Amino acid sequence: MRKTVVIVVGCLVALSWTIHSVQARPGKRYDAKTKTCRMIDQGRLDWETDHWGTGARKFKEVCKSCHTRDNDKGAPFLYMESYGSEGWNRVFAERKIACKLDGSWDVLSEDEIILVNDYLYRNANDTYDPNDADTCG
Ligand code: HEC
Repeated sequence: MRKTVVIVVGCLVALSWTIHSVQARPGKRYDAKTKTCRMIDQGRLDWETDHWGTGARKFKEVCKSCHTRDNDKGAPFLYMESYGSEGWNRVFAERKIACKLDGSWDVLSEDEIILVNDYLYRNANDTYDPNDADTCG
């Protein structure tokens, strides 16, 4: 009986910790390309920009086809925490990167590119900072 109580309490602690860390992620992103505020913690975007959504999948399929550790394509190793949220936004807003300019992103639709941006923004290396603010209201 006592053991069961300990297990149940343990699960509740783990669950609330998970919920807390998920909620600490930013919920809104200003997209400079489309000049819109994207609610990335709601509805379809909530799903698509999480670790199992289109944003994550396309990042792995396309970007990570080159940007792996020790690749032979001359691409620096990249993963979601390589930049902070603002850093990723700049990458996708300016798009002055060699691999974008040479057409390596062209297999992605514009919608998919924006979802990759949403995913990276949401899971970037500063997203667990409690002082981090959403970029638009
Ligand atoms: C066909 C291979 C390829 C694909 C696909 C690719 N990249 Fe690249 N990327 C490169 C290479 C090579 C460089 C380095 C170019 C240079 O420094 O001249 C680079 C550079 C970059 C840089 C600059 C990194 C730095 O530290 O200077 C970023 C950011 C980047 N890529 C992001 C992406 C994203 C995001 C995607 C997916 C949407 C992507 N790349 C897809 C090959 C690729």
